[in-house]
Amino acid sequence: MATEREHSHRSLALPVLFAALGGLLFGYDTGVISGAILFISRDFGLRLATEEFVVSAVLAGATLGGALGGLLADAVGRRKTLIGAAALFVLGAVLAAVAPDVGILVVARLIVGLAIGCASLVAPLYIAEIAPARLRGSLVAINQLALTGGILVAYLVDYALAPAGLWRWMLGLAVVPGLVLGLGMVWLPDSPRWLQNRGQKSAALSALRRLGAASEELQLAVGAKAAPTPAAGHSLLRLWRPQLRRVLLLGVVLAVAQQITGINTVIYYAPTILRMAGIGSDTAAILATLGLGAVNFFFTFVAVYLLDRVGRRPLLLGGVAVMAAALALLGWAFWAQIDGAMTAIAGAALALYIAAFAIGLGPVFWLLLAEIYPLSVRGSAMAIATTANWGSNLLVAITFLSLTAALGTAWTFWLYAALAVMTLLFCARYVPETKGKSLESIEAQIAKGHHPRHLRAEE
Ligand code: BGC
Repeated sequence: MATEREHSHRSLALPVLFAALGGLLFGYDTGVISGAILFISRDFGLRLATEEFVVSAVLAGATLGGALGGLLADAVGRRKTLIGAAALFVLGAVLAAVAPDVGILVVARLIVGLAIGCASLVAPLYIAEIAPARLRGSLVAINQLALTGGILVAYLVDYALAPAGLWRWMLGLAVVPGLVLGLGMVWLPDSPRWLQNRGQKSAALSALRRLGAASEELQLAVGAKAAPTPAAGHSLLRLWRPQLRRVLLLGVVLAVAQQITGINTVIYYAPTILRMAGIGSDTAAILATLGLGAVNFFFTFVAVYLLDRVGRRPLLLGGVAVMAAALALLGWAFWAQIDGAMTAIAGAALALYIAAFAIGLGPVFWLLLAEIYPLSVRGSAMAIATTANWGSNLLVAITFLSLTAALGTAWTFWLYAALAVMTLLFCARYVPETKGKSLESIEAQIAKGHHPRHLRAEE
């Protein structure tokens, strides 16, 4: 029995790793621009406004890609959507690498953004649907691990290629994981749960065999006599029914909260923040940024290890509480401006903040999103929350520098700290504990009108 289980879990390794390349590309393509933009700007002679346009094109594309990806995942399947995203990753990377002018470069980055938006949602969705309940937290968090790894690799590639100013290589290298993702997904089966829900019983059974029969509960889900009959009406309208509306709003609020607590001001602007905090040189700022990327990556391991052991809520609540404290400390470092200690305090606060995000809100948001919606509308519901996530990401990215100019750096971080406190209160009140529960049990309880906060162990 134990060996059978081990065997079936081993056969999940490749599907999880291939899908997580979606996370890797998400991280790489959002992280790489911070270093590349300096040289793009120099080569094309860009003004600040155009530069901001090039940087935010990916976020605009991803906002659209999130919506598209979710709708497609429900309509044509998780696998085909990931193959489409991989094709867009490759196309965008090649086009960016050869772009003769800034117009084409912006188009290329929009295409990459579309791919990122799709992958950001479909990769965790696919993994959640093939994972057994007791490992689902860790397996889905591997996508976030790949994401943070992608950011770190991007920072390293930028650092290595910066002396020669090779920005085309920085952007073009994403072709490699893009191709591997595409080929991997061509070879892998679709999610048995999705196939079953579409009435494709024999395809679902063969997918199940290819996944090593996976978990008992997945066999039950696929073996169920009839697929849960989708209620009449367009799926987007169905989402507005009372039971679903509650979980839809839960996902959307978490999506917005993940961004307005400031994570990407650090991911995208760390060197700038460190310079503001008085770090000695650009090189020191870039090295410290690499350090922050490493903290993000290594603390995501902690989440992978703990999510199925202690559960989602303790990590989320603990993580957000520490984020709020770290942001308050960061604001204080800028406010007090203690001679000689400001850089060290700000650096430590940034590291603490990133570590807390990596353990909690980072992975837990994408995990919960893949867990709380019913199968027949899962992609569409995730599309709405993902669009809210990328839209808020864009908003924070384009307002951060103006906010520091208008409010001052200290008050900007105190504002994010206040938003983190509100996030904490919201999560404490509304976020469910999904640890160890099968997707079918979560769905059944929500359909019965149970408040998501009070899901029972198994039903
Ligand atoms: C967020 C991204 C962020 C990344 C940082 C993800 O969970 O959605 O916006 O850049 O974590 O690790």
